[in-house]
Order: sequence, then structure tokens, then C-alpha cells
Amino acid sequence: MFRLKNVTRRFGVRVAVDDVTFDIPQGQMVGVIGRSGAGKSTMLRMINRLADPSEGTIHFNDVEVSALRGASLRNWQRDCAMIFQQFNLVPRLDVLTNVLLGRLNHRPTVMSVLNLFTREERIMAIAALERLGIEQTALQPAGTLSGGQQQRVAIARALMQNPKMLLADEPIASLDPLNAKIVMDALRDINEREGITVITNLHTLDTARAYCERIIGMSGGRVVFDGPARELDADAVRTIYGTGADGAEIDESMTSTAIRNPARQDNAKESASPTPLALAGL
Ligand SMILES: Nc1ncnc2c1ncn2[C@@H]1O[C@H](COP(=O)(O)OP(=O)(O)O)[C@@H](O)[C@H]1O
Ligand SMILES: [Mg+2]
Repeated sequence: MFRLKNVTRRFGVRVAVDDVTFDIPQGQMVGVIGRSGAGKSTMLRMINRLADPSEGTIHFNDVEVSALRGASLRNWQRDCAMIFQQFNLVPRLDVLTNVLLGRLNHRPTVMSVLNLFTREERIMAIAALERLGIEQTALQPAGTLSGGQQQRVAIARALMQNPKMLLADEPIASLDPLNAKIVMDALRDINEREGITVITNLHTLDTARAYCERIIGMSGGRVVFDGPARELDADAVRTIYGTGADGAEIDESMTSTAIRNPARQDNAKESASPTPLALAGL
């Protein structure tokens, strides 16, 4: 069980997250929705302690995450992998090495510095790439991949951490609809097969509805909706998104990424190459 209790985060006088309380049972897939500035990213960043709460507590089972320091904080950040809208890969390093970097928190510093990875770790990295359908890119510099492929590399890197929770901050906001679907399907698969809790910020309602068993709606730093997707009716949507700047009602199509014109050219950069295990030097 994961729990936020009365969590507030201020930046000067601005309140980014305002007295948020909720529990998430292990293995749930949760979508966090809301307008830009609602506090979604700040909340995720506090969960894996990239930011600290100004007030309130965060617990994972019996551990107070918000009080962790030093090695135990690093262990938590390993248990709680995060992926981002902009992928955060090292573009000049090859895909395989980017994925192996997910193991850094599992090893002594000396081995990390020397960039030594075991055979088991390399097999694990290839398996993660295969699972995401991008093993053929293993030796390419990550920066040469399409956005959809890069996000899959980031997910493979996150899997290398053996996380208990996977946090995703608008993971599909930079992707075309086809790649958005591939990435969301991958997150759902990880959630269902490994029982890893997934908390993902999403800026589109239809994606949250399609993939998340539970939706948390934020507005002005507060949680204004928390329930199953089927309860997200027009009133709830209005509460979360409010009205437009001109006072007009928010139309659901404004928050939709429905596939209209699937862009297939995204796969064009994928190149044929030797077998994945050969690439890994195995
Ligand atoms: N590092 C920061 N310094 C100052 N203000 C910040 C910082 N990070 C976020 N904020 C403010 O907190 C509010 C919530 O931001 P954010 O969590 O990024 O929202 P969202 O992810 O929902 O768009 C915004 O008003 C934003 O300007
Ligand atoms: Mg954000």
C-alpha cells in the first residue's frame, strides 16, 4: 500500500500541491489528469523524492518515504522508477548502455564508474528490449531513434531497476497516436504481468479512460476527483478542467488524442542489424 497524507508543496507563496491525501493498493494503474499547472508533475516528483513535500507524509507500506535519507533514499528511488515526456536518455550512448544504466543503483560505485556490467545484466537488458520490441536498435546511439522508440528504451531502463512502482510524467505527450498506443500498451502490460503499480500523468482524458482503472483529477493543486473511469462524467470533467478561458464549456475533444491520421513513418529509423545477443557480446 502506498499512501500520501496531507501532502502540500509550496514554491514561495505559490501552492503547487495542496493537501493531497490518497491510498494506492499495490498493482493499481492510476491516471492523473488535470490542466497544465494543476500540480501533476510536482506530485509525481514528490513520490520519488525528486522534490520534497513542504508538509505531509508519504508512506510505502511501513516505510516513511518522505523521511528517507542517504542509501535508503537511493533504494527508494530504485524501487520507484520514473519515465518522462522527453525520455531523458543519454543520446550519444547506445541503446543497450542506456538500458543498463537502470542497474546503476544495484551495484557498488566502483563497478558503476568502470561501466562494468555482468553477463546476467546484459541478458536482462536484451530481454527488456525484446519485450518492448526494439531489440534490433541495441547498438544504435539512443539519439538516432524515433520518439516512440526512445520512450520504449526509457521503459526498458526503468524495468532494469526491478521497480515496485513505475511513475510516468506525460509519457506520450510528445508522441504520435500510434506510438502513444504502443507505449501505453507497454505500461499496461507491465502493470498486469508484474503487478507493478503504475501512476501516470496524462493530459488526455480518453487515454486515461482507456488504460487506467482509477483516475485522479487535479485542479489548482488539489484532488478534485478520485474514482473509477466510469464515474468520470461530464460534471467531473468540468470540475477537473473548469471552463475555457473564454468561459465556454470544455469540450472533451479538446483533451483527446484519438487516432485520426496514424503516422507510420515513425518506424523508418529502425534498421536491420545482427541478432540481439550477438550485439550484447554474448
Ligand atoms: N520548481 C518550481 N519553482 C516554482 N514553481 C514551480 C516549480 N515547479 C512547479 N511550479 C509551479 O507549481 C504549479 C504546478 O506545476 P506542475 O506540478 O508542473 O503542474 P502540471 O504538471 O500539472 O502542469 C505551477 O503553478 C508551476 O508553475
Ligand atoms: Mg507536468
